[in-house]
This record gives sequence, C-alpha cells and structure tokens, in this order.
Amino acid sequence: MSSVPFYDPAKSYLDNFEHGPFGLFADTTPTSQTSEPKHEFLGHAVYAPFGIPAGPLINGKYVKAALDKGFDIPVYKTVRTRRYECHPWPNVLAVKVEGDLATDRTLVANHDYAEPLSITNSFGVPSFDPEFWQPDMADAAAYARPGQVVVGSFQGTLPENGSVASYLEDFKLGARLVRETGVKIIEVNLSCPNEGTANLLCFDIQRSREVVEAIKGEIGSVPLVIKMAYYKDEDRLRAFLREVGGVVDGIAAINTISAEILDEDGKQALPGEGRLRSGVCGHAVKWAGVVMASRLARLREELGMKFEIVGVGGAGSAAAFDEYRRAGADAVMSATSAMWNPLLAQEIKEHAHEL
Ligand SMILES: Cc1cc2nc3c(=O)[nH]c(=O)nc-3n(C[C@H](O)[C@H](O)[C@H](O)COP(=O)(O)O)c2cc1C
Repeated sequence: MSSVPFYDPAKSYLDNFEHGPFGLFADTTPTSQTSEPKHEFLGHAVYAPFGIPAGPLINGKYVKAALDKGFDIPVYKTVRTRRYECHPWPNVLAVKVEGDLATDRTLVANHDYAEPLSITNSFGVPSFDPEFWQPDMADAAAYARPGQVVVGSFQGTLPENGSVASYLEDFKLGARLVRETGVKIIEVNLSCPNEGTANLLCFDIQRSREVVEAIKGEIGSVPLVIKMAYYKDEDRLRAFLREVGGVVDGIAAINTISAEILDEDGKQALPGEGRLRSGVCGHAVKWAGVVMASRLARLREELGMKFEIVGVGGAGSAAAFDEYRRAGADAVMSATSAMWNPLLAQEIKEHAHEL
C-alpha cells in the first residue's frame, strides 16, 4: 500500500482540487497496454472492467491520472447544476471497525490510515458551476484511450421550497449538462448519504422511477447508470427493480454505510450540524457490496432484465475483484483502496483470475 494517497485527507478539499492529485498519480506517464481490450462495459471496449467510482476523482486532472494508471472506467465525481459548498475539513477520517460493518453502529475515527483500511468521507457533494465542470469533464472524457471509458456522475439538488417538480427539473437540467460534455456513460447518484436527508432517494421507489424516466428522456441513447445504497430487504429490492431495472442500463452499488462517528474522546468527530452520522466505505463494507452484486445478478435473471452491475465497496485487491465478478458484477470499482494504492488497477490486471 502506497503511503501517499492521491487525495490527501490532511489537506482541504480546495487544496486537493487545486494542487492534486498527489503521490504516484502526479506522475503523468501513461501505463502501456500491449493486448487488445477484451471486455465490454455498456457497449464500450475496456481492457479490464475495473475503475474508480464517483468520489475521489474530483476533477479532470484526477480522472486523467486514473486513466494513465490503467483504471479503465473512471467516474468523474458527482456534480450539480450549480455551485455547492463542501462541508468543512476534515472530510476524510480513518475508522476502526472490527469485522464487517453492520448498519447503526458507533465508530471511533482518527488519522491512522492502516490496513485493513476503512474510512468515513463527508463532503456533502460539493460542486463548481457548470461553466467550470462542463469543459473540464469534456476534456477528461476525451483523454480516454481505446479500451477506456469515462463516466460522468451527477445528482439533483433539493430546492429550498421542497417542490418535487423543481427537483425533477434539476435532474433533467443536470442530465442535459452532463450529456453536453460528450461523456459516453452517465451516472446519477440516488444514494447520497451526506445531505442531511433521512431517506435516500433510492429507497423511494416511485420517486426513483420518476427521476430515471425524466433523465432518460434527456439523454437519449447514452447509457444511464444509477448509484444505489445497500438494500437490506430483498423483497424491497425486487420491487425497486420492477419499477426501475427496465429503464436503466446499469446499477452501481453500494455507496457508503452510515454510522455514528466519534473521536477518541467520545465527541462528534466531524464538525457541524448533520455530521454526527457519516458514510463509511472501504474494507468494512465489502460484504454489503458483494451481497448486493449477487442479489442484483439473481434478481436480474429472475425478472428477465439486462442492466449491467457495477460492484462497489471494499474492492481493494485482485481477490476482492474476483469475489465481485463471481458474485455477478460485470464491472468492479474501488474508491478507498484506490486512493491509497494508485497501482491497484495494474495489480488486478496482473493477478485477477476473473478477467
Ligand atoms: C472521497 C470519497 C468521495 C465520495 N464521493 C461520492 C460522490 O460524490 N458520489 C457518489 O456517488 N459516491 C461517492 N463516494 C462513494 C463511493 O463512490 C463508493 O460508493 C464508496 O466509497 C464505497 O466504495 P469503497 O469501499 O471502494 O470506497 C465517495 C467515496 C469517497 C471515498
């Protein structure tokens, strides 16, 4: 594991934005590929169906660095239709978890990023204006070489007046703006845990359907992936898929699992309102990502659907990649482990059996 993460938790979001990426990601020599790309992801040839999900690749420089390091499916971090501030620093802390993380736990956070690595991340999905991110995303998407494809992620912003109609309009505008960048795959985040809302959009089945139908109406033939959270109840997941699974082209799961985060003195670790609970990712959530991948694969078959499955959560080694692929994931992505191991894609290409 590299000791220098490409996103440095000791620095502010803006500092990372301006000066990053760091460590090996700062070296811009592209990794060479000798063979032909043998895999496909949503109609695009890829060398390996492996990438970095929405989050750590906070702008085009990071996406390009990921492409250079052989992450063939990088996702440009979730953007919005307008500028949106980042939560105050710190935005990433290490958390200690014994075994697998179940929901509703209290965890102690510190700055000791040791293996097996789990972290909490708390940004609040910041965004710059489309005037900045549209050309930046377009440039990053165009940087992909044959055998690579960039995904653009976005989400809607709840209007202050709470109107459902303007919420839907914002998703439609976001979809149009992302489409204009020329990214070949669009992802919508239906599972944002850090907005202070008790319920994630993906747990509201009817609203999710309205949102994805509205987006599909805007993006035409560009494949649409939805980012989902861990669904505890298989019957609810089946009900969700009946409504949404035939409309979308891909499902990426999971996002983070929420927990109460305290510092070593037992106080709230992340300063500010609405930040006592925060999303946990990395090694401790792998079990949930693998369970979701296998449930999605089983239900896809049962319901005769075609969406592709992107397995996310603690996929930090060739063995974990294999586990996800055997569970039924068409593609696999790592955020936390990739941040600390810029050579992860190369390791997977060398050592994974399920390629
Ligand atoms: C620094 C960081 C920022 C993230 N930001 C987003 C985001 O903007 N949108 C999103 O859909 N998921 C976001 N995530 C969640 C990841 O995409 C992923 O679902 C989660 O971290 C689990 O994968 P991991 O265990 O490999 O980290 C973020 C994760 C990290 C570590």
